[in-house]
Amino acid sequence: MASILVLNGPNLNLLGSREPDKYGHRSLNEIMEELERFAGACGHELHYMQNNSEGALVDAIQKAANDGVDHIIFNPAAYTHTSIALRDALLAVDIPFVEVHLSAVAAREPFRQISYFSDIAVGVISGFQGESYMLALQAIVNQAEP
Ligand code: DQA
Repeated sequence: MASILVLNGPNLNLLGSREPDKYGHRSLNEIMEELERFAGACGHELHYMQNNSEGALVDAIQKAANDGVDHIIFNPAAYTHTSIALRDALLAVDIPFVEVHLSAVAAREPFRQISYFSDIAVGVISGFQGESYMLALQAIVNQAEP
């Protein structure tokens, strides 16, 4: 059984009403609950959190190491393009993570095409709206030890 943590950065609590053409119509809770059910059905344990503050996300990454989390699915949201602190936290704990984005960041403004995470992620999934999270989870489940 693997322990999986899904971390969500700023403004993702507004999913559903926030720029739905880019981010879809589903709320974060709907997406996360679907992940929780799928992970449970596959015999894994999944927890999730969302926070608008960089420091709280750093704390969550540090706590993940103490809690024995095996994999992180991370949508750093706007911090993708700015946060050395979150990058350093992930390097410090050395927990493999998949970077996820709802929108196709590579096809958006130039500043969104810079990520502080892609080069240290196991993989990156971007552009499938809420489904991006499920694709990341399926990849983790497929690669997890039986
Ligand atoms: C995002 C893309 C980021 O550029 C943006 O700041 C977000 C969401 C995405 O999931 O597409 O808040 O990470």
